[in-house]
Amino acid sequence: MDKISITGGRKLRGTVQTSGSKNAVLPLLFSTLLAEGEHVFHNVPALKDVETSCLLLKHFGCDVQRDGTVLRIKSGKLKSSKAPYGLVRQMRAGILSLGPLLASHGIAEVSLPGGCAIGTRAVDLHLRGFKQMGVHINLVKGIIVARAQGNLKGARILLDYPTVGGTENLMMAACLAEGSTFIENAAREPEIVDLAEYLNKMGACIQGAGTDLIRITPKKSLLPQEHKVIPDRIEAGTLLLAGAITKGNVCISSCVPHHLDSLLFKLEEAGFFIKVSGSSVELSSPERFSGVNIITAPYPGFPTDLQAQFMALMTQVAQGVGSVKETIFENRFMHVQELVRLGADIQLDAHTALVRGGRVLQGAPVTATDLRASACLILAGLAARGETVIHRVYHLDRGYECLENKLSSLGANIKRFK
Ligand code: UD1
Repeated sequence: MDKISITGGRKLRGTVQTSGSKNAVLPLLFSTLLAEGEHVFHNVPALKDVETSCLLLKHFGCDVQRDGTVLRIKSGKLKSSKAPYGLVRQMRAGILSLGPLLASHGIAEVSLPGGCAIGTRAVDLHLRGFKQMGVHINLVKGIIVARAQGNLKGARILLDYPTVGGTENLMMAACLAEGSTFIENAAREPEIVDLAEYLNKMGACIQGAGTDLIRITPKKSLLPQEHKVIPDRIEAGTLLLAGAITKGNVCISSCVPHHLDSLLFKLEEAGFFIKVSGSSVELSSPERFSGVNIITAPYPGFPTDLQAQFMALMTQVAQGVGSVKETIFENRFMHVQELVRLGADIQLDAHTALVRGGRVLQGAPVTATDLRASACLILAGLAARGETVIHRVYHLDRGYECLENKLSSLGANIKRFK
């Protein structure tokens, strides 16, 4: 298993490009099950989760070819309508095959993903929505067995919580239903807008994506198209925070700056200088920065996927306290004890972490527990004295494209070894 070693203390400087978005590309890949023929995606990041999704698509009978950042998916006759546990266990987004399979074939069997390191991660809202659309759902030996008699029925669905995956799954299912579907209290993430744009290119009629009310007027069939995946706002945010934690000056190019607003406001509040021009964000560091408070929230609030990395930054506040409140996942503080091993002063009280600055972090061996926790520990390693070795970095490869190469191009002393 790979490990990453970082010798901290270098200020990061320079420009680095953002890759395509993991969370946008995964639903796009599953949307190919809605229309037979060749779909072409550009700006596809080389990530383990993309590989796993492609394996799942091949298992369903699709032909998948990659050429650099271009992915061609030929969707045709379905070979199987079952998403096996072996693949869904590796990547929870496999649940996103449920909506497209039900819409196009009326039948799907997808292993229930189960919990993960950051929380239980239920899919009850996805299933409740499908039931409203006329789908019969049974749980048999850990597998969601879903069947529709005839076409799915359009419905008015009011989500208890603006679930990202649930909104995407139901939006895809509704494209080929009978009658319009309204999703209320829908998630508003940019990845949902990107998916709706692709579905509309295919001929669907989706209005309101990016707001909390989405209306889907169904069509008889859809046609495959070509699409460029949006930049990864979480990767861009992580790279900005890497610049900030080393008190460096970095420019993140090829991103969509307004997708990062909640982070940029917090960085400015802490004292960093932010300059946005076109698709680039430049960060320069002050002599000292202050502690600020963040509360994670659905978009456009502060993203839970940047919470751990922001906490790493707060450990480097010269004086004062920063508080980090997690409201989306019940257990997304696994990185706290690892940061404490590096010398951070963090007190956990239920869903809030109080981070006291003024501590010098000392490099040590640490273990990554999930994707964003890995990024948090890398950031902490960049600021720590001496060597930090991060174990279990396979989590990182699920969601970051060559993060160590990007950081090293900015001047970090970081290497991967077996
Ligand atoms: C997506 C992102 C993930 C991000 C998360 C929140 C992808 C592939 N992943 O995950 O990186 O951290 O959004 O921004 O896009 N919930 C229920 N019932 C449901 C669905 C969700 O209770 O049916 C709960 C979950 O347990 C969780 C919260 O709602 O506590 C948010 O989940 P959701 O928005 O669905 O996140 P994902 O789509 O899994």
